[in-house]
Amino acid sequence: MVYSLPILPAEAVNQAEDPARVPEDFGLTYDPARSEADVLTDGFGRRHTYLRISLIEHCNLRCRYCMPEEGLDWTPPEHLLTDEEIIRLARLFVSQGVTKIRLTGGEPLLRKGIERIVAELARLPGLRALAMTTNGLLLPKKLDRLQAAGLTQLNISLDTLRPERFEILTRRKGFEQVLRAIDLAIARGYRPLKVNCVVLRGFNEDELLDFAAWTKDRPVEVRFIEFMPFDGNGWNDAQLVPAAEMRARIEARYPLEPIAFDPHGTARLFRIPGHQGRLGFIASMTEPFCEGCNRLRITADGSLKVCLFGRAEVSLRDAMRRGASDEELLALISAAVGRKHARHAGMYNLARMPNRPMITIGG
Ligand code: 5AD
Ligand code: SF4
Repeated sequence: MVYSLPILPAEAVNQAEDPARVPEDFGLTYDPARSEADVLTDGFGRRHTYLRISLIEHCNLRCRYCMPEEGLDWTPPEHLLTDEEIIRLARLFVSQGVTKIRLTGGEPLLRKGIERIVAELARLPGLRALAMTTNGLLLPKKLDRLQAAGLTQLNISLDTLRPERFEILTRRKGFEQVLRAIDLAIARGYRPLKVNCVVLRGFNEDELLDFAAWTKDRPVEVRFIEFMPFDGNGWNDAQLVPAAEMRARIEARYPLEPIAFDPHGTARLFRIPGHQGRLGFIASMTEPFCEGCNRLRITADGSLKVCLFGRAEVSLRDAMRRGASDEELLALISAAVGRKHARHAGMYNLARMPNRPMITIGG
């Protein structure tokens, strides 16, 4: 079967100067009279209740879809947010209605003092979920303390169930350690334990059924993710496996029953009858889900990004270091949220547009 890759209309691009120019036929209507007082609601009425904070750019793996072998030009440490700056920003966002924070990276467990950051954030009144996306390598060492500090949800990355492939993809050893981390997180009660799997044509696409079988006796949610273009990751549509194709391949062997759709979720979820775990498909490229987007991001160097795929950012770090008051920060945040576009530019445009490498945005 042949699946076509839709090219999204050029006029919808995230880079458009004026959000009002974005066509309305995506089910979103731009409100020019948006109230700046509602800091986290954008011009399309989307309320942002989910904040992803990148704690670090470094990583102890070198996944090919993410980073070159030699690493990147890392931001000097003094340009990264301090613990106190992270906690201050988190408090501010939670005071405006954020109910879920996810800690990302790079590899967030490489950040010194991660346990204290988790403990401080978990204490913020109004925060209902504190999640982390990790490659799992350091998790066996740190999970118990993180759980005691208040970490409520975990995503662990695992793109292959074959040890030799793990080493090729990540350019490092560690497969067994990641499996240990997954087992431990299950044993400690993380439900559903999400496992991120980026599917690459010609590399791990032949493991879709293995992953499906792997959910039989494990309460994991394996989320198959379309390969996304970021600076320096060599994206190419030939390596992208559309989510519809992934699903069809699995459905040729297993029945997939849809699970109720979360309007803000990125994954379309399914269960296989008789399996403890479930499967999700994240079609950011071929079926973008921008209408329900409730996510904002803060990069490790303190910039607010209102869209994963947009270049627009505002440095909250610089504002804080200039002595900005909370009110001034909120005004900056509100203006940035107000400039958020209806949807991203479409994968072919994204592949051409400058952004940041994924690792400096936070996955
Ligand atoms: N495409 C899709 N997902 C990616 N991630 C990182 N780079 C990419 C990419 N190019 C996701 C992976 C990883 C998480 C940290 O970020 O799911 O598990
Ligand atoms: Fe939201 Fe941007 Fe992601 Fe679309 S691409 S879902 S607008 S963050």
